[in-house]
Amino acid sequence: MQPIQAPYPTTRFRRLRRTAALRALVQETTLTTGDLIWPVFLCDGANQRQPVASMPGVERLSLDLIVGAAADARDLGIPAICLFPYTDPGLKTADCREAWNPENLTNRAIRAIKAQVPDIAVMTDVALDPYNAHGHDGLVVDGVILNDETVEALVKMALAQAASGADILGPSDMMDGRIGAIRAALESAGHKDVAILSYAAKYASAFYGPFRDAVGATGALKGDKKTYQMNPANSDEAIRLVARDLAEGADMVMVKPGMPYLDICARAKDAFGAPTFAYQVSGEYAMIQAAAQNGWIDGEKAMVESLLAFKRAGCDGILTYFAPAVAKLLRG
Ligand code: PBG
Repeated sequence: MQPIQAPYPTTRFRRLRRTAALRALVQETTLTTGDLIWPVFLCDGANQRQPVASMPGVERLSLDLIVGAAADARDLGIPAICLFPYTDPGLKTADCREAWNPENLTNRAIRAIKAQVPDIAVMTDVALDPYNAHGHDGLVVDGVILNDETVEALVKMALAQAASGADILGPSDMMDGRIGAIRAALESAGHKDVAILSYAAKYASAFYGPFRDAVGATGALKGDKKTYQMNPANSDEAIRLVARDLAEGADMVMVKPGMPYLDICARAKDAFGAPTFAYQVSGEYAMIQAAAQNGWIDGEKAMVESLLAFKRAGCDGILTYFAPAVAKLLRG
């Protein structure tokens, strides 16, 4: 596109910024409640609301309360909720077998939500880190995270979630070949309409810290995730990963974290035109909330601006812990 404009003073950009009405007319992108996926943390027990200290405003909710939260989200116009379990340390094993237990917390929550709030889309996390004592997203032998054996476990996990009624599976593990394996298994098992939103370009990031508190993996994680999550210095590799996951059968792709990686969001959307999402992760949320609590920024305005930026970058939607707060604001 080649913009044509006369030189100053014939062209004065401030003419169209003069009033709110004129600004609204020429606004290029908008944020709506339909753009939001709300990540929530599950815990066992009844009537449990456990605040996550490093994520002010976020609570782990027990099953009975998650159904109400899903109903509230639906009423606010939020199209999807994404479930993350806080797993009882007693259920964590080296083989991660709790991950594909039909009765695990996630699978019970999927069934409860789909039974009572069927019109909200339920998304899951497909990764092994909540289910082992070392906090890695894969099976570990002698300190090495195994790829192909992990993919087999992820397939079992994905099938259990699909059988429980999940609408969208979110493989967040960054093993090679998992999208193709999961897609093939879903087809064979008759789950042909279960969607995959692949965490395609997921970076080894410091911004996941508060999330690991929320799911109880902080003390657990030994070392880092650099042998499977991406190097923050890389951009071409992200495009190759998005291409790979789309070719293997992902319906939608994700870039994660969000704000420091808007260039990757824009490149991925421009290159493929596929439904593209960003995950505004726990550390991004925590930074905005912490600064707001100190009175250093206007939290509400920073929230809206940060989310609008994802739309401007080309994202179709955003996973954000702000989903209910911003939906309330957008609804007036
Ligand atoms: C792990 C997973 C992580 C997040 C989502 N899934 C953490 C990690 O990779 O260590 C992070 C989300 C956030 O920080 O909000 N499968």
